Amino acid sequence: MKDLLIDRFRSVYGRAPDIIGRAPGRIEVIGNHTDYNGGTVLGAAINHSIYVGLSLREDNCWQFYTNDLSEKIVSGGPEIKKRKGAEEWVNYPLGVLDALIRRGLPLDRGFDFAAVSDLPIGAGLSSSAAMELAAAIGFGKLYGMSFELVELAAIGREAENNFVGVPCGILDQSVSALGKRENLVHIDCKENEVSRIGFFPDVVFWVFNTKKKHALVDSLYSVRHGECQRALAGLQEVYPNVSFLAEGTVEQIDTVASRLSGEEKRRAIHVVTENLRVHEMCRVIAEGDIESAGKLLLASHESSRNFFENTTEELDFLVEQLSVTENVYGARLTGGGFGGAVIAMTNEAFTAGDGKTVTANYKKMFGQDLDVFSVTVGDGVELL
Ligand code: GLA
Repeated sequence: MKDLLIDRFRSVYGRAPDIIGRAPGRIEVIGNHTDYNGGTVLGAAINHSIYVGLSLREDNCWQFYTNDLSEKIVSGGPEIKKRKGAEEWVNYPLGVLDALIRRGLPLDRGFDFAAVSDLPIGAGLSSSAAMELAAAIGFGKLYGMSFELVELAAIGREAENNFVGVPCGILDQSVSALGKRENLVHIDCKENEVSRIGFFPDVVFWVFNTKKKHALVDSLYSVRHGECQRALAGLQEVYPNVSFLAEGTVEQIDTVASRLSGEEKRRAIHVVTENLRVHEMCRVIAEGDIESAGKLLLASHESSRNFFENTTEELDFLVEQLSVTENVYGARLTGGGFGGAVIAMTNEAFTAGDGKTVTANYKKMFGQDLDVFSVTVGDGVELL
């Protein structure tokens, strides 16, 4: 991919990039919508990334190019303003730039930017965070600043929250920043602590990408975010010491049920029980109990389906199929939901052939093809 990026950069801008940054996508292993609720989440960086090339310009204009979304160059500068429509993708790197300028980045000259990617977009594998992180490390280097990995993650999230306008948590950016081969990234969002934990060495993750996303996916995410905030407010009327929704208990939710709408109660139950499942997952990983880990994935999906209501028919069908497929320990939706992909945790004997049965059944049911591929757990953001 690095060579492809250099090639593309040369053909678009007539010279090689001065700086190359790479950042991976991620799978959310377990901890669905726990991050912005002060809970814990486990994710893994994957071996599919976005590569960003950058060079300084003599003037103070900027140009963006990517081979994925459009072959058209998006140009502007020096001001940093949100773009719409087909140019929307540049809001991720522009948002990063905005966050960097707040941290003192001297944007005294313009730049040329190109991105290439082997990370599927819209699959729930966080191509947006990968773009943000690759841009953040690249812009930092280009303008002579460097940041700790946790700060790079914060910059990416700031871009997303304040510039793009999605109230996401810190999961995607932290995993893309701090991912490490053979490790899961463990994020305690209440304490703001990120660590790595070793994972089962002989487990493989497969991605079943439906390539279908709800048209309103971002606004549905915001709706869920709002419901969680209102559920917390209801909980705090009786339990003022609960500072985050994930800290509550099912008993507490039952006690305050009359203060919550049906939706708020269901969202709260999901968040609280999902957080417990993440802790349980850490325990079974430490014990080497793969079977139980698989069951936790299935339970997580069930909770998303029944209580958070962020699954789709397609995702539910896939999880059901996978749960009765040989060599699969467990499966669940990965990421925000409302479409995207399911991950399956399998043993090494699971083959693309086993995947094909699921694919064929899916096609029979929905008349559409799936993208199925295995991923390995890879390293986080870096300069190349
Ligand atoms: C998206 C967001 C994350 C997280 C997940 C759901 O990936 O970007 O912050 O909330 O959804 O767990």
